[in-house]
Amino acid sequence: MSQTIAVLDFGSQLTQVIARRIRECQVYSKIYHFSTPAAQLRADGVIGIILSGGPQSVYAQTAPHPDPAIFTLGVPVLGICYGVQLMGHFLGGKVALSKAREYGHGHLVIKKPGRLFAGLPRKLRIWNSHGDKLTRLPPGFVATAISENSPFAGIEDAKRRFYGIQFHPEVFHTERGVDMIRNFLLGVCGARQDWTTKDFIAHAVADIRAKVGKSRVILGLSGGVDSSVAAALLHKAIGRQLTCVFVDNGLLRQGERATVESLYRRNFKIDLRVVDASGLFLRRLKGVTEPEQKRKIIGRTFVEVFEKSLQSIGHADFLGQGTLYPDVIESVSIAGNPASLIKTHHNVGGLPARMRLKLIEPLRELFKDEVRKVGAALGLPREVVWRQPFPGPGLGVRVMGDITAPKLEILRHADAVLQEEMMRTGYYWKVWQSFAVFLPVKTVGVFGDERTYDYVVALRIVESTDAMTADWARLPHDLLQKISSRITNEVRGVSRVVLDISSKPPATIEWE
Ligand code: XMP
Repeated sequence: MSQTIAVLDFGSQLTQVIARRIRECQVYSKIYHFSTPAAQLRADGVIGIILSGGPQSVYAQTAPHPDPAIFTLGVPVLGICYGVQLMGHFLGGKVALSKAREYGHGHLVIKKPGRLFAGLPRKLRIWNSHGDKLTRLPPGFVATAISENSPFAGIEDAKRRFYGIQFHPEVFHTERGVDMIRNFLLGVCGARQDWTTKDFIAHAVADIRAKVGKSRVILGLSGGVDSSVAAALLHKAIGRQLTCVFVDNGLLRQGERATVESLYRRNFKIDLRVVDASGLFLRRLKGVTEPEQKRKIIGRTFVEVFEKSLQSIGHADFLGQGTLYPDVIESVSIAGNPASLIKTHHNVGGLPARMRLKLIEPLRELFKDEVRKVGAALGLPREVVWRQPFPGPGLGVRVMGDITAPKLEILRHADAVLQEEMMRTGYYWKVWQSFAVFLPVKTVGVFGDERTYDYVVALRIVESTDAMTADWARLPHDLLQKISSRITNEVRGVSRVVLDISSKPPATIEWE
């Protein structure tokens, strides 16, 4: 049986981040509901328990409490934030209610390194986010670290192997936080570092098989990293019980459909249905110029086409989706804060409930870089695993103004030239995104001896780490020159190429 670290989830958005940090240490962990009976944890062979943070006060009527018997299992426990208050509450300490949350950077001074802080500098920057705090130590505990907010920023009962920290070691802003978690896993719990991407895949495959049984799963394949990895993983688990649907919305890039067909049908032998709905999309988009309107039409039409395609496939019980953990957080925050909805992302949020399909989301707990590792381990090529992001509405938001087939053709061709040069020089892999935008503006040019009056193409090439902010990439001038001269020479209908040198903010990455 694999050694398991149990992360008891008390409702913090950071619970998944704790699990991720544990995976980074190559240790297996499982997130459990906070109320899981201690007997269950024992039966699962749990070798250590981490109590996550949570938004409540331990005294609140609705406060989530663990089974108190977890403290008598004889396994190490690490309480983080709300978790340390639970330790105070259940083990005989005192927790003071506070009116305001302490939030943001703080400074930790380690007084007694013990096993948790072993090998760390005495002073560290930390990240706080808590309301109540511990005001009296439970019997058997000593303080190991202090901060400006608390004389009990770190506590331990080394004999029982109980540790508590008031701040969040799992977030990036806490210096050496991962080392604290690693110290707990390896130094305190004695965990083996044997959890790899391969193990994740084996577990996921077993989970999918158990969940799906003999049923069918349908998955909408876009060709992007997330849906591709989800498809490859589901296919490994259930083979021909998986049917993938790829909708050609007429807004794809050059060769995109053919590439998807050859990779999944020929290489992976996936049951792939390609639905050509380009005519329908283009008809519905005719004359539409307003960006949100375009997105809505594309999103709605996609759902409609996808739904209809299901009828021809026959009965299925599950809808597979390549949802990642950041999508889960993003949809939550968007739902809670309409102001954060700057552009509607039709591919997050799923399909209507009336489809009555159960969701299966094998990547739901992973972060993007982990998904890439899984994809590579499943044999997906570099072009897929490290593919640049491409918006759900596709070229629909890269043709400014109304969309027509000839404009799309011009854009496709110009974009292909750009990608070819980016690939040839290797810059494709170094930037976040590189693409062409079609501008419905005619300008005068001269080609041979003739005066021309043709369209403009803009190059949008940006660097970014998370798409929240971005800056235009400083590419070598001779590369830009090559791209520009190839486009104006090879793409009929374009007489001018311009470079977008705006950062995000205030501009966005896409033009619409
Ligand atoms: P913006 O233009 O908002 O884009 O700076 C940020 C990132 O999101 C991508 N993007 C989308 N992705 N569906 C998607 O899946 C969409 O509707 C969509 N709109 C923008 C964009 O390419 C960039 O990576």
